[in-house]
Amino acid sequence: MAILRILHILFGVFVAGYYMFAVPILLPRLKRLGPAIQGPVMQALMPVLTPVMMVSAVVIVGTGIAMTLILRPGNLGTLFTTGWGWAIFTGFILTLVIIVLAFGVIIPTGLRAQKLARVIQGRPPTPDEVKQMGKLSAQVETASNVNFVLVVIVLLAMLLARYFPS
Ligand code: HEM
Repeated sequence: MAILRILHILFGVFVAGYYMFAVPILLPRLKRLGPAIQGPVMQALMPVLTPVMMVSAVVIVGTGIAMTLILRPGNLGTLFTTGWGWAIFTGFILTLVIIVLAFGVIIPTGLRAQKLARVIQGRPPTPDEVKQMGKLSAQVETASNVNFVLVVIVLLAMLLARYFPS
């Protein structure tokens, strides 16, 4: 249980830390510096960030489910009858939403934006390309903002769960 807890918290803090640093601080600053800087920085980050986030998601969900089964052996019904259970269940569902947004929207849309940036490189973009780039960036920004809020809610649910009736 101690090992599951350590892995869960370490990887959880890592993902939550990324969103808490990137969404309010890093991404707005990069946006302000303009595409000439934002593009290469994101291009350098993505190949590292994507696999690290994938491993983190698997470890967090795996250890989270394992801890739930250990703490509530054969009695998952209490997930819906206790405050502790509702906190963990809500955290679990919101984590799934975060994963879908990260791997279904943020990463694929970010990759499409990078591909477009490579096509444009070395010449002024056409009005259509500017419009398309704006749309892709807005999608990444919105999904990242939503994930930031969800990560904070999951973190609060997990941290407060033990103080709710169990
Ligand atoms: C981004 C996602 C997540 C983050 C940041 C996160 C974070 C945390 C943290 C910091 C704790 C320690 C709380 C404490 O010791 O007071 C915790 C505990 C726990 N988490 Fe998560 N977690 C996440 C997702 C999940 C998922 C998907 C599950 C699956 C059911 C889960 C199940 C649990 C359980 C069972 C505990 C132990 C609660 C207790 O000891 O009462 N977590 N989590």
